[in-house]
Amino acid sequence: MAERTLAIIKPDAVAKHAIGDITRRYEAAGLYPVGMRMMQLSKACAEGFYAVHRERPFFNDLTTYMSSGPVVVLTLEGSDAVKKNRDLMGATDPKKADAGTIRADHGASIEANAVHGSDSVENAQIEIRYFFAESELP
Ligand code: CMP
Repeated sequence: MAERTLAIIKPDAVAKHAIGDITRRYEAAGLYPVGMRMMQLSKACAEGFYAVHRERPFFNDLTTYMSSGPVVVLTLEGSDAVKKNRDLMGATDPKKADAGTIRADHGASIEANAVHGSDSVENAQIEIRYFFAESELP
């Protein structure tokens, strides 16, 4: 069944010119962009997006980092999209990510880990709506 998930190509991956490689991997895996926007997040926008992590010790660094340069936000559609995207990304810490995953190939650290992907179908819906109005998506 077709499902949607939210992905973010983070500032480190944009800076190393990996937008093309990463979107190619999504498409090759059957995760097709139905919404896509390049933007620079304000600190407040990053804080709102990561609000569930507000109490974590890394929250300030994470949101400062995510607003430090342009990102690409994507709504991806495909069968089993949430899990498929998590498999493509690999573990949060690039050092622990399986070979051939996006984070193993492009991530530099647990913070500069190239991409974000929704962790559940429920959160995917919330995260997609955070960046895309209903009228902007097919
Ligand atoms: P992401 O999937 O975007 O969701 C939250 C982010 O917090 C995570 O990827 C990491 O980049 C970042 N982060 C920084 N430090 C940690 C940590 N110690 N544990 C988990 N996530 C961390």
